[in-house]
Amino acid sequence: MTPADKATACHLPAPGNIHVWRIDLQHPALLDLGKRLLSADEAERARRLRFDEHRQRYMAGRSAMRLLLGKCTGSEPAAIRFHYGTHGKPALAATGSTPAVRFNFSNTDSRALLAVAIDRDVGIDLESRQREINVPGLVRHILNDPEAVEFYRLPEAARRLALLTIWTRKEAWIKALGAGFSRPLKSFSVSTDPGDSVQVLPMPEEPGEPPTDWTFRLLEAHPDDIATLTARGTDWSCRCLDWQPDEHGRSGLS
Ligand SMILES: CC(C)(COP(=O)(O)OP(=O)(O)OC[C@H]1O[C@@H](n2cnc3c(N)ncnc32)[C@H](O)[C@@H]1OP(=O)(O)O)[C@@H](O)C(=O)NCCC(=O)NCCS
Repeated sequence: MTPADKATACHLPAPGNIHVWRIDLQHPALLDLGKRLLSADEAERARRLRFDEHRQRYMAGRSAMRLLLGKCTGSEPAAIRFHYGTHGKPALAATGSTPAVRFNFSNTDSRALLAVAIDRDVGIDLESRQREINVPGLVRHILNDPEAVEFYRLPEAARRLALLTIWTRKEAWIKALGAGFSRPLKSFSVSTDPGDSVQVLPMPEEPGEPPTDWTFRLLEAHPDDIATLTARGTDWSCRCLDWQPDEHGRSGLS
């Protein structure tokens, strides 16, 4: 095995496992790397972002994504080509090689998670526990009637964090499907119990279709965040790993 093969092997999950990489978006090397690694369309998207902090966060996220996926696939980070689904989900362009590396990304202002799986669609969503939300407004927006009834049985003091947790479950699933908000969050149900750390739910992927089992896992990614990872099936486990760029701008395991 060459050193490059070894690097790829340690970054790739086994088929029944999903890796979740914790990324510090404020790592100083990431912004600088973005200037070298981003594709023309990514650079243009960054340029169009009005606020510096949004631009920096986007560039840091895409740099980390490229470095990590480069390690997973044995590719040059800058040479990676993303394809986008109908609703914007980025995916690796098919190379005909096996195994197929699938991924999904989510960020807050300063941290991000990148879920990487083999031959399995994944969805991940991350929210800061400090995020200010209007609880009744968000309930109306994301919970269907039976979920809202369940939700309002929770003690009032527990509701804000519970709602953030439910929100991550719902967003993780629409992200796994790649549907984005074209799949209204009220059109399907998840657990409203914030204590359900692992849950298997039969979910119809298209309205009217028979349900498929999906597993939802709450992640202990960072004490200040709430995060959910979801993927089809029950035959997978996950592992959280820390990541940071090494001093030469290549990705390294910390
Ligand atoms: C995907 C979406 C739910 C993410 O929302 P969010 O909570 O604000 O952001 P997150 O940090 O969790 O995720 C953003 C990342 O998800 C990924 N992503 C983008 N579109 C996605 C999609 N359709 N499915 C899954 N992942 C997607 C990207 O990697 C993106 O980060 P990047 O652009 O910096 O690479 C939301 O942006 C969305 O729905 N976008 C699609 C637009 C759409 O469908 N509109 C429908 C109108 S009816």
